[in-house]
Amino acid sequence: MERIRTLDDLDVVGKRVLVRADLNLPMVNGRVTDRIRIERLAPTVGELSARRARVVLMSHLGRPNGEVAPELSLRAVVGALAETLGRPVAFAEDCVGPAAARVVEALAPGEVALLENLRFHRGEQDNDPAFAAALAALGDLYVNDAFSCAHRAHASTVGITRLLPAAAGRGMQAELAHLERAIERPERPVAAVVGGAKVSGKLELLGNLAGRADMLAIGGAMANTFLHALGVGVGRSLCEHEAADTVRRVLDQARDAGCDVVLPTDAVVAEALAEGVDSATVSIKAVPADRIIADIGPATAEHLARRLAQCRICVWNGPLGAFEIAPFDAGTNRVARAAAELTRAGTLVTVAGGGDTLAALRHAGVVDDFSYVSTAGGAFLEWLAGNELPGIAGLRRRRAP
Ligand code: 3PG
Repeated sequence: MERIRTLDDLDVVGKRVLVRADLNLPMVNGRVTDRIRIERLAPTVGELSARRARVVLMSHLGRPNGEVAPELSLRAVVGALAETLGRPVAFAEDCVGPAAARVVEALAPGEVALLENLRFHRGEQDNDPAFAAALAALGDLYVNDAFSCAHRAHASTVGITRLLPAAAGRGMQAELAHLERAIERPERPVAAVVGGAKVSGKLELLGNLAGRADMLAIGGAMANTFLHALGVGVGRSLCEHEAADTVRRVLDQARDAGCDVVLPTDAVVAEALAEGVDSATVSIKAVPADRIIADIGPATAEHLARRLAQCRICVWNGPLGAFEIAPFDAGTNRVARAAAELTRAGTLVTVAGGGDTLAALRHAGVVDDFSYVSTAGGAFLEWLAGNELPGIAGLRRRRAP
């Protein structure tokens, strides 16, 4: 398989470098509320700028579906972007055509511009060759630093790689290195900790992990579906009753691959998932018919902490309970902090991402202690499912710089 080129392989001096970033940032009242994706992009922009490239950033924001939606204008992120990058950022009112070309042509070496939302044009999502060509006309080289968009076969992630010499940015490079270390060629034993609500959305992922990990720990509402399929009563808990066959298939895959599936042995139950309600810890075999499972119990959390101590790699996706509502964050906090402690001690490599994972690990205060926490949602899940991401495949295509 073709090696993915990086910034080390590009001669960028004086060149217009089109950088696919993921500036799909959470916003409240037009203000960016979380800058972690900008922080992850900063090394690539800083390096290109220091190497005298003309840096042209492009991204989507939201899902405007080919329509111009003023509330999804990337102009709203320019302030946070410039502040975090520590340099001025010019803004182009469109991502293609004369408005974009004017801003790009005005850039001096080392300067940075941001183009308007790519998804204001239908050609982005359709991976339309004409739209990809219009983007490519704005650059000499292409750098993809948006792992979190690599599961989308769009013009700015795939089409453009056929038209310009392409390389991975530093953020993408770091992400791939960590994921490869955890999944492709891991040191063993490997633990996979998977939580969140639904089995159905994570079926491929569970099947892939069951075939690769030595231990698969299941928490969150997803565990209820497993327990139910095994004939354990889960009261009024969120549970996909119709997924029993799916669960049994995952369990068969795990058994055939020698992967130990660990389910909760105790649970914190409550009347409702709300602040201030009464809760109790019960054996998993004694969940009252009128109660909801809100978290894994303390015995399960301790067991998982002990098991992680015997592992070399931990891949984590999803919270183990309703972590947004105290005290139902206790299970996720306990296991995440145990993983963080083992990481600090140097015995465990911890790689996490997807969906609510960043929020749950942030809540537990461990993001900086894990080896790597991805900001990707769907792309991380696709990777864990073992699928080749189109944006990564595009970077592997050979086209001489
Ligand atoms: C994300 O936030 O996960 C990425 O920006 C991808 O966004 P999308 O799901 O709208 O393609």
